[in-house]
Amino acid sequence: MYVHVPFCASRCGYCDFNTYTAQELGGGASRDGYADTVLAELALAARVLGDRPPRRVETVFVGGGTPTLLPADDLARILDAIDRTWGLAADAEVTTEANPESVTPASLKELRAAGYTRISLGMQSVAPGVLAVLDRRHSAGRATAAALEARDAGFDHVNLDLIYGTPGERPEDFAASLDQVVAAGADHVSAYALIVEDGTRLAARMRRGELPYPDDDVAADRYLAAEAALDAAGFSWYEVSNWARTPSGRCRHNLLYWTGGDWWGLGPGAHSHVGGVRWWNVKHPTAYAQRLAAGRSPGLAREVLTADEARMEEVMLRLRLADGLPLDVLDDAGRAAAARAVTDGLLAAPAHAAGRAVLTLRGRLLADAVVRDLLP
Ligand SMILES: C[S@@+](CC[C@H](N)C(=O)[O-])C[C@H]1O[C@@H](n2cnc3c(N)ncnc32)[C@H](O)[C@@H]1O
Ligand code: SF4
Repeated sequence: MYVHVPFCASRCGYCDFNTYTAQELGGGASRDGYADTVLAELALAARVLGDRPPRRVETVFVGGGTPTLLPADDLARILDAIDRTWGLAADAEVTTEANPESVTPASLKELRAAGYTRISLGMQSVAPGVLAVLDRRHSAGRATAAALEARDAGFDHVNLDLIYGTPGERPEDFAASLDQVVAAGADHVSAYALIVEDGTRLAARMRRGELPYPDDDVAADRYLAAEAALDAAGFSWYEVSNWARTPSGRCRHNLLYWTGGDWWGLGPGAHSHVGGVRWWNVKHPTAYAQRLAAGRSPGLAREVLTADEARMEEVMLRLRLADGLPLDVLDDAGRAAAARAVTDGLLAAPAHAAGRAVLTLRGRLLADAVVRDLLP
């Protein structure tokens, strides 16, 4: 299950996620009634899937936006309703995303007691100058403190998100962020190159020449720095942008997305995939709430992937995993391209000999290009 929570206290200049500040929502959907609206979609999901064999829920991921802008009680209520509807597997992974400044030791304890097993915090950087360019509200130290508070509250699994390649970020700024991730006791790190999304404040500042555009070679250097520091601290990559200290620390929910699993996404704009059918909800929280209040599905559109589209997706997603991709998923031209990629040092030779396409470190820097070569 995915649950989208489309609220943020303020919008970071780089972010184009489906999220809204109170001001942007005006008199529309409010945070107060949100948990009940989600529960209405959950009841609909139970009706739609009702005739299928009962399946326990293996993973729940509450993302945003800033889920922790909702009271911990609401997050507990949503999880409890999912459990009552289908049953959570005994070892279910239950994650919520959180902004460092939106959690307290007390709220973290409440979430842990309610059954949440994993917290994912947006740290982005510890350099004050970088946090300022990104419009982050928290101080440099708050993300580390929140991660430590989460460990104290009993969370074994804590992720910290980093963004690298922000204009003005120096190599030592990113090195300090990596040091802090390790010192904070996180068992998982997601590190993403800054993407300049159209329509964001950051994109406008770059267009006006106030900030330089990110540089690909700088991003590649940062990626190599992340791999070196995290590897030295005992982390292993399991997806191009994700590292975990132990195999049990890998995010099972994201692995489900990357390996073609089934999930229902609750909330405005949420995507779902069940039994080869993909659909997505209306994007705006007000339209979403209105549909459910009228007893209608919030689904906006659906698609069934053709076999070719499904294979393309499988190659795109699986190649980014450390486990890689079985070569027999590729057609003849793709297999020939994979052999060339081994010669070019982009795919690992031993894995290739064993029938799999697995990126080398150099291949991870050029993953999109490798995917393009392997596909028709
Ligand atoms: C929903 S947010 C995480 C939770 C929370 N809202 C926060 O920001 O702390 C998901 C993550 O996506 C990443 N992200 C969002 N927009 C991005 C962009 N334009 N470029 C790179 N990473 C981005 C950030 O690392 C962010 O932490
Ligand atoms: S990065 Fe996180 S806090 Fe910032 S606007 Fe996006 S979802 Fe909200």
